[in-house]
Amino acid sequence: MSKGTYYITTPIYYPSGNMHIGHTYTTVAADAMTRFKRLTGWDAYFLTGTDEHGQKIERKAAEAGVTPQAYVDEIVANTQELWKLMEIEYDDFIRTTQERHQRIVQQIFRRFYEQGDIYKSAYEGLYCTPCESFWTPTQVVEKDGVKVCPDCGRPVEAMQEESYFFRMSKYQDWLIDYIETHPDFIQPAKRANEMLNNFLRPGLQDLCVSRTSFKWGVPVDFDDKHVVYVWIDALSNYITALGYGTDHDELFRKYWPADVHLVGKEIVRFHTIYWPIMLHALGLPLPKQVFAHGWLLFGNDKMSKSKGNVVYPQPIVARYGADALRYYLLREMPFGADGNYTNEAFLTRLNADLANDLGNLVSRTVAMIEKYFGGVLPAWDDAAEEPVGNDLRAHCAALPAAVEEQMDKLQFSQALTEIWKVIGECNKYIDQTQPWVLGRDPEKQGLLGNVLLTLAECVRFVAVLIGPFMPATPGRIFAQLGVEDEALKTWDSLGSFGRLPAGIRVCKGEALFPRIDIKKELAALNPEEEAEEPKKKEEPKKKEEKKMEEKKKGHDEPEFPEVIAFDDFAKCKMQVGRVLSCEKVEKSNKLLRFRLSFGPDGERTILSGIAKYYQPETLVGRQVVAVTNLAPRKIAGEESQGMILSALDNAGNLRLMSVMEGVEDGAIVG
Ligand code: MSP
Repeated sequence: MSKGTYYITTPIYYPSGNMHIGHTYTTVAADAMTRFKRLTGWDAYFLTGTDEHGQKIERKAAEAGVTPQAYVDEIVANTQELWKLMEIEYDDFIRTTQERHQRIVQQIFRRFYEQGDIYKSAYEGLYCTPCESFWTPTQVVEKDGVKVCPDCGRPVEAMQEESYFFRMSKYQDWLIDYIETHPDFIQPAKRANEMLNNFLRPGLQDLCVSRTSFKWGVPVDFDDKHVVYVWIDALSNYITALGYGTDHDELFRKYWPADVHLVGKEIVRFHTIYWPIMLHALGLPLPKQVFAHGWLLFGNDKMSKSKGNVVYPQPIVARYGADALRYYLLREMPFGADGNYTNEAFLTRLNADLANDLGNLVSRTVAMIEKYFGGVLPAWDDAAEEPVGNDLRAHCAALPAAVEEQMDKLQFSQALTEIWKVIGECNKYIDQTQPWVLGRDPEKQGLLGNVLLTLAECVRFVAVLIGPFMPATPGRIFAQLGVEDEALKTWDSLGSFGRLPAGIRVCKGEALFPRIDIKKELAALNPEEEAEEPKKKEEPKKKEEKKMEEKKKGHDEPEFPEVIAFDDFAKCKMQVGRVLSCEKVEKSNKLLRFRLSFGPDGERTILSGIAKYYQPETLVGRQVVAVTNLAPRKIAGEESQGMILSALDNAGNLRLMSVMEGVEDGAIVG
């Protein structure tokens, strides 16, 4: 008997390019949760898919000289391959180009129109014809007094496009009340406050839901100039995949409302404002939760195909297996927070957590059973008291509940931390009990047997519990431990400690995660960096830093021309930025790495050579002034996207420029 149904979804990804480790992160999380729910007795259903329409895809396909459908077909095939490689087992993969989806989207759109939620009007904005894109007045850039497209730099012109709009404002008060009375609906809770304060309370704008300027979309069936624009098409996937609106809606009736939509933090708004309003307008219940996870950053930037700073999972999996990468993704950062992906951090964890902690525990346990008991698990010896392991046995017995508690909150990293605490304790227990000393004394056989049984049982618990995170590893552990009985691999079998029966024959196998030489592996993962002479890599870094430092000290005072044209000054874009994070750049004692928010203009990373003058943590939250249209440049191997302004004080210390109160982040200085 199942404990109930559990429906979990990932966002449907844009197949504008191949999926990278960021998309993999969300999908692995959903897969781990699904597996955990199944392990613990739930009837789980896991949906993922692709969001295939839109102008960007239409353009990419044209560039590639293929039809949009052929273009997405190829990326989708690659995506499905990748999910297979990552051991992701979804129940369904929805594609927005499928007939089953499009038909229902048309039906939903028509219903909204007929019940007065959607009306026809005109979209007004600044239009870039070559890019076929509308921009808002704050998005466009001024160049020589002319408003230009922020993408291509060509002039934009005020234009109107006939569009349908969804009357979002009508549902605003209802939604505010809903969010306020359902504190679990948006998680983490700070995202709910962001939605309320930034969008809902100031007043919702009606949403543009159709376009006439491109064709690659679901046609509006009662007005064929229009295609459905983005969110009605995309969000509906969560119900069209279940057969909503068809005669075969068993899955919909069984699984809706979803238990959780996992989304990246940049699309929370669509899932917690537009989607609930759409569902309410359809008379449907809302998903129980929308959980916004953070971004996997590369350096300090969000990985994205357009920035070209993307890490793909395939080469990593080819060298270390999917389980190692899955483990890293789920362990490295708390779900909800941003985190970094670096090969170095990944390899370090691989060695420390997987090769050393887990791998050694399994191999030592098996090897000792072989050595001292001929490979056969002894029976528990009641006569041999073994008090040292009491805490460990109690801790391990309580582990399933501790893991479940964290998983119920989608805290994958914490759940793994709980498991690794027990692994750590086991390794300590080996050192404390010193089985190799007990082995020398025939009178201590009973005690030795109890120690090894304790370890083997802990390993069994660990093997069962890591399954959702690392699906291929439990089988390898069970094989070494000699556990064949399926009943000993279940959640229920963890109901009490000490079920591993005597007589089982262990079988030493290959190391689960062989220890690696991090330097060598780094070189293998970054062949192009390796190709450079190490010296050459050092030099520019030092030169840059030196130049920067000297300039700050006044040694290298730039020679200013007597006068400059006003236009030259006007080219320099200076803005007020707020420090989101600030930290020392490793391997440099001069540089601080700032992550700055420029309000509506987004975030950027800037390196500044002021580490000597400030404690980085004291700067978080402060406003500084930065030049934001400087060409990005590499300092100490990292890209700096601007310059933070500072001046020398009388004592020769650099002091940051700041602003008086009441200035918004992103405000132009000048
Ligand atoms: N198609 C929309 C979503 C529609 S859902 C109804 C979309 N697609 S996307 O391809 O841009 O994928 C966005 C999702 O991919 C994010 O919300 C996040 O879950 C995942 N990620 C993409 N890059 C990521 C990182 N660098 N880090 C973490 N997750 C990332 O938006």
